[in-house]
Amino acid sequence: MNIRAVKEGKTGVLVPVHETGISFPPSAAPVFYNPAMELNRDISVAVTSVFTKKLSGRRNIPIGDIRYLDALAASGIRGLRIANEVGVHVTLNDWSEDAFDLITRNTEHLGLRTKVDATRKNANVIMHEQRFNIVDIDPFGTPAPFLAAAARCAVHMLAVTATDTAPLCGAHLHSGIRKYSAVPLNNEYHAEMGIRILLGKIARELAVTDRFMTPLLSHTTRHYVRTYLETGKGAKKADEMLEKVGFISHCPSCGFRESFHGIAVHIDSECPRCASGTLVAGPLWLGKLHDRDFCGEVLMELERTEPGTMEQAKKIIGSCMDELDIPTFYEQHLICKKLGVSASGINDLINTLRSRGFAASRTHFSGTSFKTDASIDEIESILPMLR
Ligand SMILES: C[S@@+](CC[C@H](N)C(=O)[O-])C[C@H]1O[C@@H](n2cnc3c(N)ncnc32)[C@H](O)[C@@H]1O
Ligand SMILES: [Zn+2]
Repeated sequence: MNIRAVKEGKTGVLVPVHETGISFPPSAAPVFYNPAMELNRDISVAVTSVFTKKLSGRRNIPIGDIRYLDALAASGIRGLRIANEVGVHVTLNDWSEDAFDLITRNTEHLGLRTKVDATRKNANVIMHEQRFNIVDIDPFGTPAPFLAAAARCAVHMLAVTATDTAPLCGAHLHSGIRKYSAVPLNNEYHAEMGIRILLGKIARELAVTDRFMTPLLSHTTRHYVRTYLETGKGAKKADEMLEKVGFISHCPSCGFRESFHGIAVHIDSECPRCASGTLVAGPLWLGKLHDRDFCGEVLMELERTEPGTMEQAKKIIGSCMDELDIPTFYEQHLICKKLGVSASGINDLINTLRSRGFAASRTHFSGTSFKTDASIDEIESILPMLR
């Protein structure tokens, strides 16, 4: 395997180079490495650093005794950065022989032998055999086959990437239903749908063993969804968590949407606003996607450490922090098109909603989307006045 050195954050890591030397998809290399995920990894390092400091203080555990599992490690770049830049004890696991060899080489190269273990197991086996304070699931494609084991294994925090955005967002409906035991809707807020379908599945996996989660941060792009969940044990808290799982009823004719909490709920199939037929998505997560204070601390950590993608990372975390924590966002352009009016600046719309007493925010999902507790009737009455 040809390799080259890259530096991300404060860590230099050896990664594969394709034999042809020209550009190639990350999955075609003998060991996976995707430079485009540096932003995702920079955020991971900052989140893990903030979380471990809190955990260490709260439980009186030295940072070096906190155990982190990078269950699908490939070159090891994610977990090696966590070991090097955060200082926790990291286990890097990958079932591929090439990956294991590269991880071993990288560990030596960085002088991290005392802080890092390498294992070559099926990720589900190691997650059933051992418990870790923090577990990171970063697969190629769907995380679904790993969620049951990860939900048992992650004692304090679970981080999950999903790159199967088409199934999660309803574009590949049947695949989404198979993977997540839920029905997603592919509508204007499909990006938020994807996060909520994934979190709904993880919540149900945690509940199986009386465990619960509190989302710290969840963000998405066209290519992936990433979430960080604080986890814990307790039947009562698991019951309370499940009250935040439910359904969204959506009217494709008029844009009206409504949330229903619970697993067995009665949902009318007629839109209360325009009497058209509604569509139902779920079960999915209806609770918060982010913890505002935690996001604020991650922003400060990014400013302190200045990783390579700091500006982009700060933009994402800042938007997540300010986002209203209610489902689901509206697309200004879609509503304007329907009304036959041109769109105004998104900030004008948000300021006008606020001046009328509504809560309103931009979102990290798109530059033209917004969240508000105003009804669709109120939004439609305000938009034409903004010219
Ligand atoms: C997308 S890559 C991981 C990327 C890495 N976390 C990073 O940030 O660069 C997924 C890795 O999971 C490994 N893998 C897939 N299924 C596995 C399983 N069931 N058990 C262990 N490793 C697995 C593959 O060999 C591959 O190296
Ligand atoms: Zn309707």
